[in-house]
Amino acid sequence: MSSKLQPLGNHFINGYLHPLFGASNDSEMFTQMVWISFFYILSVAASMAMFPAPYGRYSSSKYGFLLPTIFAWITQESPSFIMPLVLLWGTSAICWSSLVNKLLLIGFVTHYINRSIIYPLCVRGSKKTPFIPYISAMLFSIFNGFMQGHYLLNYYQYDNKWLTSPQFVIGYTMLLVGMAINIYSDQLLIHLRKPGETGYKIPVGGLFNYVTAANFLGEIIEWAGFALASCSAPSAIFALFSAVFLIFRAWHHHKYYLSKFEDYPKTRKIIFPFIF
Ligand SMILES: NC(=O)c1ccc[n+]([C@@H]2O[C@H](COP(=O)([O-])OP(=O)(O)OC[C@H]3O[C@@H](n4cnc5c(N)ncnc54)[C@H](OP(=O)(O)O)[C@@H]3O)[C@@H](O)[C@H]2O)c1
Repeated sequence: MSSKLQPLGNHFINGYLHPLFGASNDSEMFTQMVWISFFYILSVAASMAMFPAPYGRYSSSKYGFLLPTIFAWITQESPSFIMPLVLLWGTSAICWSSLVNKLLLIGFVTHYINRSIIYPLCVRGSKKTPFIPYISAMLFSIFNGFMQGHYLLNYYQYDNKWLTSPQFVIGYTMLLVGMAINIYSDQLLIHLRKPGETGYKIPVGGLFNYVTAANFLGEIIEWAGFALASCSAPSAIFALFSAVFLIFRAWHHHKYYLSKFEDYPKTRKIIFPFIF
């Protein structure tokens, strides 16, 4: 195909994003993006070792003006599925013909359609979200949505043999099981409150009988599965980010419950049943 006929998106990526990342091709750009993600993870870990991320029960106007929860979740998370869709329509998306690439991208996009649209419309009585965690989450969604989408649409095409490889079969099963645990556990949490209530109760049911943060456990399994099924640096660094962020958040939640509820189940672990 002559360069004149290439979609506008390819020109934008080659002409603007490569230079932005100091790269001369996609391979160098992904390397830079993975390193940026790695240093971001280190900074998140350092901060969350001291303070919980300031949204939900830890929300505070110290971290910027407050935005309505539903608006915040929808607008901060939706770039995660909008970016891949924009790339699908706006670039040559040469890897989309592979069934493996399609399945991986559909798994990613499905998660974020739930997270950006269905989940926010279900939450009850949540506290407002301060601007700083809101904008951090939105920038992360744009960055990660582009990184995962561009990798699967324009960079690496899996052949059909990968579909039956143990890595893909086990990884994709983990992605689906993790997603089911995450959605079900989020619903259990949301339904602890009757309409109009705003306080906190001891979670019960499902994996909450074993761990404080069953919803986070589901999400960690999900992205670990995505990384295994993809065997790529962008998916692995995203799985690492999710694990670090959610383990620290689970630890803060666990401390919160222990300080608030005298009858909090003593045998309940933080996030990994029987282990931690
Ligand atoms: N991949 C990632 O890196 C990443 C990062 C962050 C979040 N997430 C995902 O996003 C989803 C939401 O995250 P989150 O941090 O907001 O989860 P969360 O703190 O567990 O809260 C989930 C929802 O349940 C409510 N809730 C939680 N515990 C409750 C209790 N004991 N009693 C009554 N209501 C309770 C919360 O209300 P309040 O808002 O009022 O607390 C909120 O609406 C999760 O599925 C998580 O896995 C993913």
